[in-house]
Amino acid sequence: MKATTAIIEAENIKRIYKRGAEEIAAIDGLSLTVNRGDFTAFVGPSGSGKTTLLNLLGCLDNPSAGKLVVNGRTVHENGRGLSESQLTRIRRELFGYIFQKFYLIPTLTVLENVLVPFTFFRKEGAGQDVRQLLKKLGLEGRMNHLPAELSGGEMQRVAIARALVNRPEVLLADEPTGNLDSERSLEIGQVLKKLNEEEGLTVLLVTHNIELARTARVIIGLKDGKISQAR
Ligand SMILES: Nc1ncnc2c1ncn2[C@@H]1O[C@H](COP(=O)(O)OP(=O)(O)OP(=O)(O)O)[C@@H](O)[C@H]1O
Ligand SMILES: [Mg+2]
Repeated sequence: MKATTAIIEAENIKRIYKRGAEEIAAIDGLSLTVNRGDFTAFVGPSGSGKTTLLNLLGCLDNPSAGKLVVNGRTVHENGRGLSESQLTRIRRELFGYIFQKFYLIPTLTVLENVLVPFTFFRKEGAGQDVRQLLKKLGLEGRMNHLPAELSGGEMQRVAIARALVNRPEVLLADEPTGNLDSERSLEIGQVLKKLNEEEGLTVLLVTHNIELARTARVIIGLKDGKISQAR
């Protein structure tokens, strides 16, 4: 059984962007703990730091200051961090990512798209249940279709399957329904909820869509790179 402990701990993290002489604190001293099995949505105005935060928590970017511990390992502390190859390993082993744009390869079928991560890395035990995964995502009848033959909601579900094929512990989703209408958006919300409840997948979701955010168990509001409210 997996321990029900923290999987990501951020302590007073900052991310400062330099634009010429100007410094922008996109994340400005933020502390947060993500526990295994959480389903958290981040909301807040444009420019409040949602994408920056998700990228930091998912080890796609490095904090300028503060401490970040992922899966018990100190990834970053006071401006010093793990090497790029160590970070790559953590990304591959722990995280799955989905984005607003689906980034499917147009010449590959659904099944082939989902298998693309194996070209780079195959986590032990991953792979046997790809068809099962596609079924779970309602794509069993679409396996041999090309992306152009799918609806937007189906395309995003393919992207979710691809993100899950290596069995990550945490799924990071940045505006995953930004290209979908409201009904399809809530459908994706239900898929994420099901994966969270049935598989224990930890889900971190960024969205402008408050209805979608409500499918999460916790909503955290961001403003000016800080947590403005949580419920
Ligand atoms: N690469 C960068 N260089 C300089 N400034 C950046 C960079 N990326 C983001 N910023 C700035 O950091 C702040 C936070 O940006 P971020 O993209 O995290 O916001 P967001 O909440 O995701 O916004 P949106 O809802 O529009 O996606 C903004 O002021 C933005 O202009
Ligand atoms: Mg963003």
